[in-house]
Amino acid sequence: MSNTKIAPSLLAADFGNLQRDVEMVNLSLADWHHIDIMDGVFVPNISFGMPVLKNIAKHATKTLDVHLMIVDPDRYINTFADLGATNLTVHYEACPHLHRTLQAIKAAGMKAGVALNPHTTINHLEDIIADIDIVCIMSVNPGFGGQSFIENTYTKVSALKALITSKNAKTLIEIDGGVTDKNAKALVEAGADILVAGSFVFKSNDPTTTIKNLKKSIA
Ligand code: DX5
Ligand code: ZN
Repeated sequence: MSNTKIAPSLLAADFGNLQRDVEMVNLSLADWHHIDIMDGVFVPNISFGMPVLKNIAKHATKTLDVHLMIVDPDRYINTFADLGATNLTVHYEACPHLHRTLQAIKAAGMKAGVALNPHTTINHLEDIIADIDIVCIMSVNPGFGGQSFIENTYTKVSALKALITSKNAKTLIEIDGGVTDKNAKALVEAGADILVAGSFVFKSNDPTTTIKNLKKSIA
């Protein structure tokens, strides 16, 4: 029996009813709240920043999984810790001193995540995997919700799983982008531990039931 986690991405929520949508996740079978912060520089889109996260944190009762799509994330590590982030994920492509960044995230009391863009291969993590709590494999190009899943992701999940096993690491594998009931099961079979789902959950008629069915489909 898999204990794969589901992390609805609030990027696809109704921002006019954010409290309602956060509370829906609280009461659902979802495990984490996935929160996408975009700066318009690292990715060609701006989502929301600290004041909105502060309000999400006020209502959220589950793990706050914060995904930073920003340049130079080191500047804000302590800010995100103060705002209540449980996990802080930075992009491999945005961190020239990744080892230092991960240590700073952990020193601030959070789990340290590293996200990989679709073009970044798993072997870049060979010398750092044991220091990473979560690797987030981007299965779309970061910046927008509602894009189609990139099929090469399965190969990457298997390669990452093999790397984790070979180094005896405890790293979790998260998949972000285009996750639906069509690919969830295969992703779990390849080794995924956490599935992020934005549009599939929030654009459905009944998000609570969608989460329940997605969870059931991978159990
Ligand atoms: C994309 C974000 C994702 C996004 C996923 O840049 O990191 O978390 O919200 O949305 P869907 O599930 O709609 O692809
Ligand atoms: Zn994300």
